[in-house]
Amino acid sequence: MLRMSELVLTDEERARAGERLVALLDRYERGLPESRLLPEPDRDQLATLLADLVPEKGIGVDGLFDRLENTILPNSTTVAHPRFLAYVLGPPNGVAAYAEAVAATINQNCNFWQLSPAASVVERAVLEWLASIVGFPATAKGILTGGGSLATLQALATALDDRVPGFRRTGLQRSAPPLVIYTSVEAHRSVDRAAAILGIGVDHVRHITVDDQNRMDVDALTAVIDADREAGLRPWCVVATCGTVATGSVDPLDAIADLCEEQDLWLHVDGAYGGLFLLCEEMRELMRGAARADSISMDPHKLLFAPLEAGCLLVRDGAKLRAAYAFDSSYLTVAEDPLMTDYMDYGPQLSRSFKALKVWSALQAFGVDSFRVATRRTLELAQHFARGVEATTGLTLLAPVTLTAVCFVVDDASHSDHTKLLETLAAENTALLGPVMINGRHGIRACITNHRTTTEDIDLILARLREVVASRQR
Ligand SMILES: Cc1ncc(COP(=O)(O)O)c(C=O)c1O
Repeated sequence: MLRMSELVLTDEERARAGERLVALLDRYERGLPESRLLPEPDRDQLATLLADLVPEKGIGVDGLFDRLENTILPNSTTVAHPRFLAYVLGPPNGVAAYAEAVAATINQNCNFWQLSPAASVVERAVLEWLASIVGFPATAKGILTGGGSLATLQALATALDDRVPGFRRTGLQRSAPPLVIYTSVEAHRSVDRAAAILGIGVDHVRHITVDDQNRMDVDALTAVIDADREAGLRPWCVVATCGTVATGSVDPLDAIADLCEEQDLWLHVDGAYGGLFLLCEEMRELMRGAARADSISMDPHKLLFAPLEAGCLLVRDGAKLRAAYAFDSSYLTVAEDPLMTDYMDYGPQLSRSFKALKVWSALQAFGVDSFRVATRRTLELAQHFARGVEATTGLTLLAPVTLTAVCFVVDDASHSDHTKLLETLAAENTALLGPVMINGRHGIRACITNHRTTTEDIDLILARLREVVASRQR
């Protein structure tokens, strides 16, 4: 068949692209257990990507797939390897690639109804489901974001709009005492980053001390808020963490919610790592209080194993989210429809990709229970790892294991010994673990947010760690 435009494929090319894609996905999946965790980047090959920027004449479907297979894949990190345990990063679920292909094909612009009716309803369905997991009321609204960092940034912008009179018109360009944010020393850097971006300034972020389980100390929080009020500052917002990035600790959300109510402060819960553990019944008591937050962030690209990027912000009183972001744009309005949500009114973007499709597709294909099972398994594997560490003379846990982060030290090992051990484990393809520092002590962190990890994988890592310890004792 003749090509109708230079930029579409002929029937034959489309069939060939399909064959090559299916073969690539299949080989990738089958090769995972034997694959290298970290590539040994071929610098010359990567340099050619810079040198031959873009060809004047296209290399065609087969040429493209050859380049993908020969240059891109071998120089990419295998995040789906079952012993990839270095970050809070879930490998994509099994239907991710197909949902992404469909999303790219229909290319819905998820900003307003007319451009994306089904996408708008799908996003709303995903958000309503996530809100129900948190226990938010029907007034809640949200938006899918590029990740947890952006969800926190967008939450704090909402809190500014809600709590600072005249914020939309005058911003922070008025002479008023500084606003202050409270979070813990264990909070993610995205809180500082949001404060910097929003013009609050990192000097106005108080990092509250934590208890022996790395949870925000509420007495210390109260004292710091009181001192700030006394000094004439404006306490404004608390960011509590449901699953800290280093140790997975969960701040005392209920007690913090009480304090925020008493003191009239906006409460944002950073649930980027931990929020989705609310899927598991046994975690609900620990996370009680999340439902009382003004806003919460969660990351489907972590524990719903959606491919990057899929974060989520939920605001308990959805009208506040809309008030912070909606601007009239006469050229974009259509008749009201009860099904309709114009997501351009709920966040900073106008053009937006159809992120909800990959989340929704996986929920359809596998069902919620499969995610509950996978999430619960990560919790169990972390406990299994922790028991293995405790049972090994020469290894010591650095922190209680609340969720799936297991932090430990090799006794008497220095920071550089730990760094070398991490390098060795990665180089021999045993596992990719990460460094951690807790209370000034350097150690190692395994974060099990990987639905492919099995008990055998954890046992293999423990066995290797025992060899290392034994060789140190010789
Ligand atoms: C507690 C916490 N908050 C925020 C983030 C940032 O999330 P994202 O990488 O999706 O921006 C992370 C990432 O690991 C996290 O663990």
